[in-house]
Amino acid sequence: MKVLVVGGGGREHALCWKLKRSASVTEVVCAPGNPGIVQDARCVNVGAEDIDGLMTLARDEKPRLVVIGPEVALVKGLANQLRAEGFAVYGPDAAAAELEGSKSFSKDLMHEAGVPTAKFETHTDPDKAEALIRAWGAPIVVKASGLAAGKGVIVAQSIEEAVGAARDMLSGNAFGDAGSQVVIEEFLAGEEASCLFLVSGDTILPLASSQDHKALLDDDLGPNTGGMGAYSPAPCISPAIEQEVLKSIARPIIAALKARGAEFIGTLYAGIMLTANGLKTLEFNVRFGDPECQPLMYRLQSDLGEVLLAAAEKRLDGVELEWDERKALCVVVVSDGYPTDFEKGQVIGGLDAVEAAGTTVFHAGTAEQDGVIVNNGGRVLGVTALADTVAEAQSLAYDALENLNWQGGFYRKDIGYRAVQREGV
Ligand code: AMP
Ligand code: GLY
Repeated sequence: MKVLVVGGGGREHALCWKLKRSASVTEVVCAPGNPGIVQDARCVNVGAEDIDGLMTLARDEKPRLVVIGPEVALVKGLANQLRAEGFAVYGPDAAAAELEGSKSFSKDLMHEAGVPTAKFETHTDPDKAEALIRAWGAPIVVKASGLAAGKGVIVAQSIEEAVGAARDMLSGNAFGDAGSQVVIEEFLAGEEASCLFLVSGDTILPLASSQDHKALLDDDLGPNTGGMGAYSPAPCISPAIEQEVLKSIARPIIAALKARGAEFIGTLYAGIMLTANGLKTLEFNVRFGDPECQPLMYRLQSDLGEVLLAAAEKRLDGVELEWDERKALCVVVVSDGYPTDFEKGQVIGGLDAVEAAGTTVFHAGTAEQDGVIVNNGGRVLGVTALADTVAEAQSLAYDALENLNWQGGFYRKDIGYRAVQREGV
């Protein structure tokens, strides 16, 4: 079958890479794709947020299946429009995508469904937000309610920092409209993990566990980013915890959405924190995580095209996923200055040598200029390795990165450290 993938980041590169290696798939088309994705798909220059352009493309290409990668298109209702014209679509309708599109909606639904999460209040008035922050004290977490590419969460160590963040968001300076409502949350301490599920109506199929590294700097310091690296599986997620996440988080939230008339078809991403008081849900996303998708696709052995088509057509019941037992780890290389300001257009050399050293380089914010690859966004590359242990996968990725020739690139040096500590070698 022909599959159309929407998006052009590292997640979509991993999806196209895996789809190309699926027996059920004869052709992968990607909009807009990127210079790495051209290895695995035919890229068509239609933006991932250009809903009209994507509809025209789908009508022209007539794919058997459309896989929507990024959240913005989902929140804007691309899946609704495609389904209305009879396409098989992997990705939720707009009503279900609100779970990610509005943190205030998501927290209210969690509350209603009895899903464990941090205590919170939603505010639009800066003075009321400040009063709450002063009453609760620091550390405290301030979140822009709308979409902010993973950057709209401030974990504030002081009251002043939290008040400043809330005022910046509510004034519209920080994240535009996305900050016109803020969610203020109790700070949770613990280890985080990403638990993703393939969902098709009432059928909820867990994917392998993974762990992202959201902070910019080693030792989880610095500002939050969209993700600086990830690995799978996450040893902190035991089979018992996986069952608990399914039972107490995934099932009730999908049921609560359904009760509101929003059926879910696509990936449910639960960001969870293992706290001293049990499991808590940090957030829901309605798509594969980026960069979690890269190690997950690297380990998945099932035919991705077949599985996603089954989900899109509500035949997921009875499907089982097969995984490589080995550990996969992805180090994200970003442009110096990300997540705020960075220069674009710098030449990136050595990519072939990084891959020749035994890794796969998933492209994100890259562009091709005069036949060379340059950086064109904040998160640029995902260097991904597979090995028997996380420690070995980590060494493989970092040794390969020695071959990268890009002065303006930056990456964390400790991706996977928690698992490596657990492996204890
Ligand atoms: P979110 O987009 O809501 O998952 O938040 C992004 C990141 O901020 C999470 O991955 C956590 O690292 C951190 N975070 C979010 N909420 C909390 C919280 N209540 N307590 C501590 N850290 C949090
Ligand atoms: N890796 C975090 C996210 O995809 O939102």
